[in-house]
Amino acid sequence: MLDKNEHYILLSTKKTSLLLFVNEIKKLTCQYYGKKIASLEEADALTRKRPYLEGTEIQYNEENPLSLNHMKLAYSTLGKGDYFAPSMILENEDSTLFDFVVEGFEEIAPQKIDGLPTPHDADQEVVIHLKEEALQVLVDLHYVIFEDSDTIGSYVEVINKNEKALTITKVMSLQLPLINEDFQLWSTYGNWISELQIQKTPLLRGRQVIESLVGYSSARHNPAFALVASGANFHYGNVYGFNLVYSSNFEDSIEMDSFENVRVQVGISSTAFRKVLQKEEKFTTPMAVMTYSSEGLNGLGEQFHFFVNSHVIPSQWNHMARPIAYNNWEATNFKFNKRKIFSLMKVAAKFGMELFVLDDGWFSTRNDDSHGLGDWEVNEKKLPGGLSALAQRAKKYGMKFGIWMEPEMVNDDTKLYRDHPDWIIHEKFHKPSKGRHQYVLDLTKKEVQEFVYESVAKTLRSAEISYLKWDCNRCISDYDNRNGTFFYDYCRGLYSVLERLIKEFPNVLFENCASGGNRFDLGMLSYFPQSWMSDDTDSYQRLLIQEGGLLFYPPSVMSNHVAAKTSNQLLRYTSYDTKFNIAALGVLGYELDLNDVIGRKDPNVLIKQIDYYKEHRELFQWGKVIQDRTIIDSDHKMIEFLGENEAIVSQFILIGKPNPKEGHLIVYGLEDDAQYEFKTRKESIALKRFGNLVNMVSPIHINPDGRLLPIISKYLEMYSEEDSGTLSGAAFRTVGATLAQEWSGVGYDERVRMLGDFGSRMYYIRKK
Ligand code: GLA
Repeated sequence: MLDKNEHYILLSTKKTSLLLFVNEIKKLTCQYYGKKIASLEEADALTRKRPYLEGTEIQYNEENPLSLNHMKLAYSTLGKGDYFAPSMILENEDSTLFDFVVEGFEEIAPQKIDGLPTPHDADQEVVIHLKEEALQVLVDLHYVIFEDSDTIGSYVEVINKNEKALTITKVMSLQLPLINEDFQLWSTYGNWISELQIQKTPLLRGRQVIESLVGYSSARHNPAFALVASGANFHYGNVYGFNLVYSSNFEDSIEMDSFENVRVQVGISSTAFRKVLQKEEKFTTPMAVMTYSSEGLNGLGEQFHFFVNSHVIPSQWNHMARPIAYNNWEATNFKFNKRKIFSLMKVAAKFGMELFVLDDGWFSTRNDDSHGLGDWEVNEKKLPGGLSALAQRAKKYGMKFGIWMEPEMVNDDTKLYRDHPDWIIHEKFHKPSKGRHQYVLDLTKKEVQEFVYESVAKTLRSAEISYLKWDCNRCISDYDNRNGTFFYDYCRGLYSVLERLIKEFPNVLFENCASGGNRFDLGMLSYFPQSWMSDDTDSYQRLLIQEGGLLFYPPSVMSNHVAAKTSNQLLRYTSYDTKFNIAALGVLGYELDLNDVIGRKDPNVLIKQIDYYKEHRELFQWGKVIQDRTIIDSDHKMIEFLGENEAIVSQFILIGKPNPKEGHLIVYGLEDDAQYEFKTRKESIALKRFGNLVNMVSPIHINPDGRLLPIISKYLEMYSEEDSGTLSGAAFRTVGATLAQEWSGVGYDERVRMLGDFGSRMYYIRKK
């Protein structure tokens, strides 16, 4: 919704409003962002009043005792008395001082940003025209409204009208002024196998910058972050969230001065950025997005989740059920042949999986990670009959077939590299460095874009392939950034390839991956509707990753796999059930050697999980996510998926303790007066967990470290407790249903909750 008069523009969504104000010196300011306001009648009461200058302030002009420093500017430049970091830094031959004023504003039909992913189905767009008269530069600030998801987008265009070239060294997509509410800054940090770790810091006076320089949005920091007001938590209180629709180097900046004025900026990283515009040339930033909720972090999550599902991912995938995948990577690595793959397919199908994904190693001489990357011809020695033989076999078993590719990369031991050594990212004087034995192809070049497009398209046309995992396994180095836009150009080159591919193959499910989450962002999600979150399939680590991801991204885009009980990454041992209880919180898959679980009780465990997931897929992929606290604050964690008349709750214990507190099943978001039934998802209990205690009941002595115990454990079916009952929504929300006594050094039977380290349970709740 848009309401405007001569000076004010009020942009409103279902529950929020942003109030822009063109003041007496024609500066665009933002006077309010928060809960929806009814009309422009409230505008005056929300507008800043500072009729006097203080101390060392700079008076903008003679007529007005106003200082830019106190003005809640919606964009800013250097040199006229605003001393926060500016959102734009410009220069030309004549000057470094650019002083824009508003020329006018208008409503336009929502536009596609040229060459950059643009969230679709926007409701309204308003553009505010700014002009620097003396230096002949125009700036258009665009605000885009997504009403149903309470999200507002913002992007900027700079147009040079001057004969003299204009150099831009910084241009942010969004600048939002706020007043400090004793904010905590919630952002994420990480690396390979530890992405999206939540970090909370008090907002400090000074400037906090979160940035990526790796060439992608990166696992080091995700572009998404939130400002959480004092007293706010997951369930209530003021929370402001931000993100950027872009997949390369970004910069989030949050600055606070001594008056507790806060300035938020989101955009392309200004480190090593420089764009020169000749007369009539234009530069456009990617879109930044923001949301506000008075309902805490869960409210913020709900709005951003809705936004991603309805406006970011390609629309044909919104609410399209995602298949349960089997992926062979952790089971085989490069060591497989057709027989092995067929045998895995057979078991995967028997267990009920819906998509078989053949990971790395199917092409050229790719039998380890130092060969073959870039030569996308099937290795017929390993896989006689090629991809179509595999696709047909998968089909025979009732599964879809998918493959892995890493199209942006090349090993030097390839025909591709020998034929086109100049296609890799490199610079004149230094030998390019490798990462994972490979180079990055230079997607700023048209001929490389064409090659990448063709290699993927040709592969997809060669067999019945309905899924493609697009990987990207090293950061960018050795670039020649003399023009100042290498990363921006690379990213646009990539987007142009993806745009063509999803147009030609609208029904192929593309999964984004960059060694896990090294490029997990709204830009990639604009093309690929789901993403492999991390190469870490260890339960505890994965829970940390998903917890961080769910703050800003919906479960439908997060793909997670149950892997072998001993984690490849941390060598930590956890049960299949705990692994499932975490992997199911999004798009479920499996990636262990299924032949190893045949012939004992484990197949039943996996089959039951898959059936359970299918039964509740709607909740797992599209449910409203509710969390209660972060793992850094507690070693108990719960994640709830709420549907219309039902919910799933997963509870986790990280480290088991003696004398545990009485367990409760608390469920949020149900109707107070309605009655609900709940039931535990029954899990299996491994006998070998009891160690020497088995001798308390065994007729013969069993050595707890001997050979017999694991053997009995493999075949003996023992089950968890099964809590069930009926309760009102109000009682579920306050104290919740009382759960069975937890194991604490006393005898086991099916009325005791055996949890221990990394123990977990899942509950299903349904309205009666
Ligand atoms: C990356 C991916 C893994 C797997 C391997 C294959 O590490 O994240 O899932 O596909 O590459 O080489």
